[in-house]
Amino acid sequence: MLVLGIETSCDETAAAVVRDGREMVSSVISSQVPIHKRFGGVVPELASREHLDKIVPVVSEAFERAGVSAREIDGIAVTVGPGLVGSLLVGVSYAKAMAYALKKPFVGVNHIEGHIYSVAFENPPIEYPAEALIVSGGHTNIFFIPEPGKYKVLSRTRDDAAGEAFDKVAKLLGLGYPGGPIIERLAREGNPNAVPFSIPRMGDGLPDFSFSGLKTAVTKHVRESGLAPMENGGEPSQEIKDLAASFQHVVVQSLVRTMERIAEEHYPRTLIVAGGVACNGKLREVTREMAAKLNLPVYFPSPHLSTDNAAMIAAAGSVKLLAGERGNLDMNADVTLRLQNVDLEEEAAKRAGVRYRL
Ligand code: KG4
Ligand code: ZN
Repeated sequence: MLVLGIETSCDETAAAVVRDGREMVSSVISSQVPIHKRFGGVVPELASREHLDKIVPVVSEAFERAGVSAREIDGIAVTVGPGLVGSLLVGVSYAKAMAYALKKPFVGVNHIEGHIYSVAFENPPIEYPAEALIVSGGHTNIFFIPEPGKYKVLSRTRDDAAGEAFDKVAKLLGLGYPGGPIIERLAREGNPNAVPFSIPRMGDGLPDFSFSGLKTAVTKHVRESGLAPMENGGEPSQEIKDLAASFQHVVVQSLVRTMERIAEEHYPRTLIVAGGVACNGKLREVTREMAAKLNLPVYFPSPHLSTDNAAMIAAAGSVKLLAGERGNLDMNADVTLRLQNVDLEEEAAKRAGVRYRL
């Protein structure tokens, strides 16, 4: 089965052709980073205009690189949400028009579910139940997945996403955008124990995340230590490298310790870490150590599939298309789309063959 994936939820225009939900035949990503860079973040209006300009050439290139024609595909999968409304609309309208013209089935995919399926490539098949940390510029959640397509959010951020914290801290240190890769590079030469930031914990004891306090602590440290933010093109000081390493250390500890706590309570058979921040080498290293301690396999997407792409959307969409799911032509972008939350006790009872009398 050949599926065309389309992703335009934020600042990448992407299209991919995927065979049988696991084999990437082609994947094209047109990044808007150079456009948004000078604003230090994504400008929604510019993003949707750019998607409009790029969608046709990006999809054509995905077909060209795959060596297949549009008529040969079996279906189309497109991101319907969550994301920026103007951006999502470009992909959704394009996918619907294409499906209608070609008389092919299509499905809408939740962007977060797409990130989870990014590990379908280059990893053994996922064994369920699985625990997935999705960590990007817009999201930081841990899902428990009793079986394919069923999700329970067990942890969420109360304020900023982890990637957003990387971006904001990089901005206040004058390091550029996007902040994640820059901070990771500087952190390699810094001391992670130089500045003792503490891991944020929730007053109510829930395994949730909070990163805005950490950003405030970095701001306070910069002010109190008289640290000068970087000027354009200068060599970063050792203090900035130490600060980058210390900040990254707490973010990684907060993410991995929470994953560990949930794994100990819910007994998953596979751990998954996906989303833009999953590119981070330190996060991978510390997660692998934790997984080895718990004797669990951990799957990461390869780095080019960690940030937004359409192959992951095609992979998630393939499962839905195979299950007979079909989108209607009145399908619309859904900015705040959430994965449906299942009741874990009910799911466990179903697996054990117990029937509920309602
Ligand atoms: O998944 P993604 O491409 O877009 C969203 O759906 O948000 O994630 C982008 C985010 C940005 O915040 C970026 O700073 C972060 O992922 N990121 C990283 C790294 N590479 C990208 N964060 C930490 N370390 C990295 N190496
Ligand atoms: Zn994303």
